Parts: sequence; structure tokens; C-alpha cells
Amino acid sequence: MNIKQLLSTMSLKEKIFQLEQFNSVLLKQLEGWDATGPMKDLKLTEEDLKLTGTVLNSMGAERMKDIQTEFLEKNEKKIPLAFMHDVIHGYRTIYPINLGLACSFDLDLICDCAEMAATEAVLDGVNVTFAPMVDLARDARWGRVMETSGEDPYLNSLIAKSTVEGFKKGGIATCVKHFAAYGGALAGKDYAEVDMSEHTLREYYLPAYKAAIDAGVDMVMPSFNVLNGIPATGNTWLLQDVLRGEWGFDGVVISDYGAVWELIIHGYAKDEKDAAHKALQAGVDVEMCSTMYAQNLEKLLQEGEITEEQIDNAVLRVLNLKEKMGLFENPYQLTDEKKAKEIILCDKHRNIARKAVEESAVLLKNDGVLPLPRTTKSVAVIGPHGDTGHVLGWWLCGGLAEETVTICDGLRSYDKGLNVRYAKGCEIGWNVTDESGIAEAVEFAKDSEAVVLCLGEKEEESGESNSKTNLDLPEVQYKLLEAVLSVNQNVVVLLFTGRPLAITRLHKLAPAILNVWWPGTECGNAVARLLFGDVVPSGKLTMTFPYSSGQCPIYYNHCLTGRPSPYGRFDITHATRYIDTPNEPLYPFGYGLSYTQFSYSQVELSTDEMSRGGKIKARVTVTNSGKYKAKEIVQLYIRDVIGSCVRPVKELKGFEKIELNVGESKQVVFTITEDMLAFYGAGMERVAESGKFYVFIGGNSETENYKEFQLI
Ligand code: BGC
Repeated sequence: MNIKQLLSTMSLKEKIFQLEQFNSVLLKQLEGWDATGPMKDLKLTEEDLKLTGTVLNSMGAERMKDIQTEFLEKNEKKIPLAFMHDVIHGYRTIYPINLGLACSFDLDLICDCAEMAATEAVLDGVNVTFAPMVDLARDARWGRVMETSGEDPYLNSLIAKSTVEGFKKGGIATCVKHFAAYGGALAGKDYAEVDMSEHTLREYYLPAYKAAIDAGVDMVMPSFNVLNGIPATGNTWLLQDVLRGEWGFDGVVISDYGAVWELIIHGYAKDEKDAAHKALQAGVDVEMCSTMYAQNLEKLLQEGEITEEQIDNAVLRVLNLKEKMGLFENPYQLTDEKKAKEIILCDKHRNIARKAVEESAVLLKNDGVLPLPRTTKSVAVIGPHGDTGHVLGWWLCGGLAEETVTICDGLRSYDKGLNVRYAKGCEIGWNVTDESGIAEAVEFAKDSEAVVLCLGEKEEESGESNSKTNLDLPEVQYKLLEAVLSVNQNVVVLLFTGRPLAITRLHKLAPAILNVWWPGTECGNAVARLLFGDVVPSGKLTMTFPYSSGQCPIYYNHCLTGRPSPYGRFDITHATRYIDTPNEPLYPFGYGLSYTQFSYSQVELSTDEMSRGGKIKARVTVTNSGKYKAKEIVQLYIRDVIGSCVRPVKELKGFEKIELNVGESKQVVFTITEDMLAFYGAGMERVAESGKFYVFIGGNSETENYKEFQLI
């Protein structure tokens, strides 16, 4: 029977329940159901549950087979459940958080990581991942920056594409989220309203969702936030005009958790019926974890507020997805307990995860302490992150601390002769004040050749709903650092964080800072190789680190004011500035040091005029002038000098990751096309406007190495 025939046999109730997604615990009510929020007052009967369309967040091949088997026995039409889960930065083998992984600028590696996660998830019974999360992030106060790829629309789009491709290779269906502009939350507070011009939305925030859709994403999840006054979940312009109309998306739209119900809380729907009405009219097919549809669609239909065709279209999209995944033929899809045991966390996967940590780490400062000499005989590891597997990050999915290589274990297995001693020093957390562990740490630091001091955030300090206003480290971590430095100057700070931090004071004090984000399962092995120089850090920041928290939101691709600072015509008191903080960030977008040094030749252009449809080659020679073979991420930025809308000071338009031996030089050539110069101008049309452009090539977004050309 084809899908349309199946639909014609379904009762209205059967159809409506295809549009509901419940938590698997609810399906197995016997195991107990302790719900909060929108799920609290669910009055679902056994009869309802056996009609459910899809399931949220359950894991384990056996368990899912169990649920599916039991379900299909009861479900009259034998329409299988689809299991959906947040597989965000790994399944059981966890790789660095997305913000870290993006710093690798390595699209193949990103694809491999996604494929690995998908392979593990699918074997364990998951059909769909709620990923990629492609929200653009400019404000480090927002806790969910850890799930993003950072602040650049071009890079975010490429990463969105690679991630979807990787997931597809691994056989999982995908859901891009959170549509749209969730990362633009006012003051960096999660779920807060987003108010932005259509120009900003189209120019910066929308491209990555579009890239995911062009790469063949299966589902779209509207965001929790209000966008220019209308919640995304009830936003017809967003979900109909842009998504389905302009972009031609014909897959499933699923609400975020409880978001249909939240239309009432927002003050956008007057009651549950109105919420169901507004969400369906806007284009939400499936409702996650509330029952506005189950309780109200039939009534709305009887009252003529919606049509059966609307319901049918939504159901068809869900059934088509199930068919595309092969669930009707094999409801267990690729679920395979035996193979799962072999593949999940296998050496190949651990190696990918280790490489991902090595390529994501960003060297923020180095006075020469790093790399540690291979002759080092003793290291003091200080800070709780040094001796724990709890370094997986917010979406740890099936990742387990006990399967994670700690820093101490990594160092010990790197060099069996190395004397590694561990002291906690102080707890990590924004509100920690207890200094009682500092004395022991100092004792260990005194007697060791080098100190690896693990500072930063705790795991739950970033991620959903974890916004904060002070991005500096708590005082106790500085006290620990100062105490350790007073007895040993050979200190490397390993920074664990889910967001850019305002660590200007740390930058002044610490001899070396290596940012490893939340590294995941292979933490210790990768860190040991980075510290001793087997791998030279090459990651570059994809999100600006502010000089102080009050600078947020801060991002490299901003516009100039009429009174930039420094500026000749006005005195400093009338320029764009803070009276207490510089305008510049601590570390700009694209920044990251190496153990070696790279020098760049002057940018050269093949011509200084581009005609319509033409191309220009921009080239530079990069030389490894230091002492280590290493990788460099060469970055191309363009500035459109005059535009019908004021254009950003720089925009990333290309990059190439190269590896150079000591003394080696390489010419890097970028091809600039007319399309790379286009933007949404005053008429909201994407055009490249004639005039002057600057082409910058360098090692970070502050490069001043440029040449100009004219588009005629
Ligand atoms: C998050 C989504 C996630 C969903 C299901 C929500 O709270 O915003 O990103 O996919 O939960 O777990």
C-alpha cells in the first residue's frame, strides 16, 4: 500500500496522533511518568498512546526494539514509530562541542564526526537526530553558543552542509534547528525575544538554515523565541513564506519541546485551541511534548477553522519521512545490538574523536612554556577537570564519564615514565569561593617541573538555559593561579569552556593558555599530544572572545559608525567607545596561535578590475618561519567599501588549511567571484554593487594585509 492509500484508510484520530511526539517514558507508562511543564496535565489513554507518531529521546537498541514491537502489536494500521534524539556532538563517542569543532575549520573532519555519531546512534535504534543546530551566535552570554559554529554566516553554512552530509552517510535523518535567529536572543538570555531587521536576518542568520535545507535536511524545528513580535512556532511568514515558499522545503516541521503550548505563555494564543490553531496555520506539522493538537484539531475542524487537507498534508509529510527511512519495511531500521557493541566506541571512532580534539584546540597565549619538553619528568595536574571524565559538554547524549580518557590518564599513558600528580585546587563553577584546596595544589606545583592547571567553566555552565552575565573566571581560580605561579612559573592553563570567556586578567597572568573547550571522550590522549608537541595547535576561534563581558554582543563583521575610534575629526570623547574598556576584543574571530610562526607575503590580485561574471585570483605566500611543522588556517576576507546598505568591515569569504614543514613556503590562491560580493541591499534583493572592494588575506580577522579592486 502506498502512503496516500494508507492515509485514506486512517481515521481522523489516527491522523492527528501522527502529529504528536511523546517521550518514550510516556509510551511505557508502567515505568512511571513524572512530567513537568506542558506535559504535566496530559490526560492520555492507552488508546491514545498506541496511535502516537514519533518518540523523543530514548536510547538503546534493545529498549527501542522492545517499544516498537509492543507498539506495533497494538497499532492497528501498523504504522511504525520513528525515534528521534538530540545527537549533537557525538552519540557514545563524544567529540568536542560544536563551537570547538568549528575552530578546526576542517569540513571533512566535521563530516566524519557527524557520520560517526550517526552510525552509533542508528545502530542503537535512533532514526532522526535533532541536528544540525546552525544558529548564528554573537553573544557569549547565551549558554547555547556551545552548540553553534560561532558568529560567521559563511562558515556556519559550510559546516551545516558538511554536518548534514555526514549524518546522511551514517544513515540518520536530520532536523535543522532552531528556525530562526534563536541565537539573537536579547541580552544573551535563553528563549528571550529576537528583534532584528530583515536585512540582518537574511544576511547573517538565515544562510546556514538554507544551506542545511539545500544539503537535504529532512526536518526543520522552529525556535522557541519571538521573532520581531511573532513566536517562530506561530510565524506564518517564516514557516510558510520563507521556508516552504522561497526555499521550497517539503519536509516535516516539528515544534521545539512544548513550544505549541508556550504560544499561550507568550501571550500569542488565548487558550489551547488557539495555540493549536495558530501553530498548524503557521505550518507546524508535529507538536513535540504538548497535546494541543490531540485535544483540539478535531474541534477546530468541526468549527471550520482548519481543513482536513491541512491535517492530511502534515500527516503525509510524517508518513513520507517514515517511508523514506525504510521504517515500513523494517521498523527496526538498522538497529543491531550485536553490531552496536562492536562499532560503538571502537578504536576508529576514538581516533576520529581524538583528532577532533587536536584540531579544535586553540592556543590563546604562549610565552614559550609550550610545547613541554619531552624530557619533562614530572607534571602537576591541578583542577578538577584534570582527573575526571566529566569533560563531555552539555549534549553528552550516550557519552559516559567512565569511558572518557582523563587528563591524568592521558599523560600517564603518553609517557609511562612521567610522574603525574593530581590536586583539585578548587572546585570549578561560577559561584565557587572555597579556597581550602589551594595549599595542597601549591605543594604539588612546587615539586613538579611543569603545571597543567585546568581552569574555566563547569560542564553545566553552558548549554540550554545557562546564560550568564559575568564571563570572567571566579576569583578563586585567580587565587589558585597566583598561588601556583608564586612557586612555579612553568604553568600551562588548560581552559575548559562552552563559550568565549572574558579572560583578560588570565591572559595577563598565565604564561600559556590552551583552550580545549569541552573535548569529549578522547580528552586526555589528545591533550597529552598537544602539550608535548606531537600535534601543534592549529584551531582558530570562530567566535570573538571579549575583552570584558560588557562588550557582548561583539563580533568581527560589524559596521563602522560615523565616528569610529580612533578617528581624526572628532576628539576621543565623541567617538564610538567605552570609557572603561577598549573597543577591541581580547581575541578576535579567526585568532589562534601555533608553536611555530607563519609569515604572509603581501596580497596580490590577478587584476584590479572585475567585470560582471568575471573572476579575480587573490594570492599570498605563507612561510613557516618557526621551528615546528604545523598547520595554518589561511583566511580570506572581503570588504565592500561603499554600499546601498553599510557593509561590514570584513567578511570571511574563503579559507584554506595548509600544513608546512619548517622553512617551507606555499602559495595559497583564492578565486573571487561576483557572487562572493553580493548582499541584500536596500531593496532586499541579493546583488553585487559596483565599486571598490578590499581583499584581505591573513591568519585572523584583524589582518591588515590587503589589496583593492573595482567591480565594474
Ligand atoms: C531544545 C531542542 C531539543 C529539544 C528536544 C529543547 O529543549 O531546545 O534543541 O532538540 O529540547 O530534546
